[in-house]
Amino acid sequence: MKINISEPENQSGFCDIHSHLLHGLDDGAKNLGQSIEGVKFLYELGYRRICLTPHQQSGEYEYDFNDIHVRLDELKESVCKEGIDIEFSNGIEYLFGSSFIDDSQTGKLITLGKSSYFLLEFETFNIQSFYKNLFFKLIAGGLKPILAHPERCDLKSVSEKEFFDYLVSCGALIQCGITSLTGMWGRKAADLTAHLIEKGRVSFFATDLHCRKADYHAIPEGIERLASLAGKDGLKKYLIKNPCELLLVDKSGADGK
Ligand SMILES: [Fe+2]
Repeated sequence: MKINISEPENQSGFCDIHSHLLHGLDDGAKNLGQSIEGVKFLYELGYRRICLTPHQQSGEYEYDFNDIHVRLDELKESVCKEGIDIEFSNGIEYLFGSSFIDDSQTGKLITLGKSSYFLLEFETFNIQSFYKNLFFKLIAGGLKPILAHPERCDLKSVSEKEFFDYLVSCGALIQCGITSLTGMWGRKAADLTAHLIEKGRVSFFATDLHCRKADYHAIPEGIERLASLAGKDGLKKYLIKNPCELLLVDKSGADGK
């Protein structure tokens, strides 16, 4: 698949803000071989920047900086040997739960690259309303959530929609999964993604690559579908402009490069 898009010099190639390519940390890549295979796959699709975002889920996946840096160094070295010119940055994909709440209350949240945005996944938006205060404080303090693939949540009940809308109204951005457009996460997720695009509520599409067999079919298919739904301009906005701007801008708002 080849989609030619002209870009500013500092925004060359697609940029992925959500992936699970560091091996042995979560349910993503199982070994270094799978990590390299995943990077090569994204490179061939046209990606030139990847943010590595292992899961943080209470009691299931607890990240360790040392592990992250050891694996990142291994991956960088291997990718360099393969002659692949790709830029990496770091983040964490938090699942809303006790570890996330503890980290957010103690100022330990890890943001994506140098940005002031952190990646947050919800199993459901059926959240007790007193947590609004937690998000209000975080956002007022300059840290903003990017909601990871919210289209996979049902958003059926009034309270779920209300909590979701509250986060967006406070400045949370929406990252949809590129594979959602293919039906990989069900018809409802595909329809909700198309609806969010139509309403202009999506800021990013990301691969959420876990190195599963299904990812390798669904990601190129998702990019094709996004191109037909949102056109070349949409593709550029969701896969290049917005994610590049996010990762290239530091917390002070100044250009980090
Ligand atoms: Fe993820």
